[in-house]
Amino acid sequence: MLENLGFSEGLALQLAADEAKGQLGPSHNCPAILEDEEGCVRGSHPIRGQRNKWRDCRLNLYRAERKRLAAQLALCGYPEHEDEIQAPIGPALWASIDPKRKVANLRDEMKRASEYKRRGWQSAGHLALIGSTGVVKSHLIFALYFSALWDGVVGLYLTMSDLRQASKELDSHNERVSHDAEYRIKGWQKRKLLVFDDLGDRLTDQRMSREPGSTKAAALLLDVLNGHSGKRMFAANLDSDGLAEHPDIGARAVSRLFGDHRVETKDKRVDMQPCMILSLYGDDQRQYLLAQGEQR
Ligand SMILES: Nc1ncnc2c1ncn2[C@@H]1O[C@H](COP(=O)(O)OP(=O)(O)OP(=O)(O)O)[C@@H](O)[C@H]1O
Ligand SMILES: [Mg+2]
Ligand SMILES: [Zn+2]
Repeated sequence: MLENLGFSEGLALQLAADEAKGQLGPSHNCPAILEDEEGCVRGSHPIRGQRNKWRDCRLNLYRAERKRLAAQLALCGYPEHEDEIQAPIGPALWASIDPKRKVANLRDEMKRASEYKRRGWQSAGHLALIGSTGVVKSHLIFALYFSALWDGVVGLYLTMSDLRQASKELDSHNERVSHDAEYRIKGWQKRKLLVFDDLGDRLTDQRMSREPGSTKAAALLLDVLNGHSGKRMFAANLDSDGLAEHPDIGARAVSRLFGDHRVETKDKRVDMQPCMILSLYGDDQRQYLLAQGEQR
């Protein structure tokens, strides 16, 4: 039987019935429980004193994305066994960045990243992280992304392989598959925050022409950008010229990726900001220990 967790009688009875059916997983320590809510039950917060009224837990997407991206997070030093509620991912990843590594201007660029975060997720302005390989781009983008999810922002993290897969499905002869992909992509465009990691990291389709912006993934990227008014953060090894030349990206996508961003604030003012570009060039930190060893 459940211990008394302070739930209303009706809810406690319902939980007990669920428990008997082996369906229960109530979380009593959800940090997103509001004052008028009774707890967190399978991703829903029942509202106190109101029968059958619930709100979705603000952390559902945060938990789901943690699960989906657990392996990538582990590569950035956030272990798979870590409890994402006890040790929130954003601050943990942020704290694990060593600003003294051999990456030019790392400390200054981290300051600018934290200024970007401080401006708030409702404010205008995209973020670009451009630089060499193994210099904390993905690590930093995860730190920012998971902080946004923790704050309840409806975001999505995508890579080139997600774009390639979706563009293949869009083209499928199976109508159901192409219809589902279309529906899913419309959902991407509605997200308040889109993250594109490792843009132009490889060629998604070797058979296509090598013309800039010529692949199906490039066409999809352009479509997604055209239909998305929210905030975007992206990372790439190539600068804007390199991305403009890339078959999977192209000049028109670059124009939008690095473009100004405007939002209308709650009091009907227009906030407009240029893209903040962080440049990170330096030694590959995947070989940090190797380089340390050589110095000794
Ligand atoms: N300044 C740093 N302090 C601590 N760890 C770092 C630092 N820079 C990089 N790392 C670690 O190095 C590894 C590579 O970093 P990351 O994945 O962010 O590279 P990247 O810039 O995205 O590279 P790529 O362009 O190849 O995708 C990760 O394990 C990351 O945690
Ligand atoms: Mg990366
Ligand atoms: Zn909750």
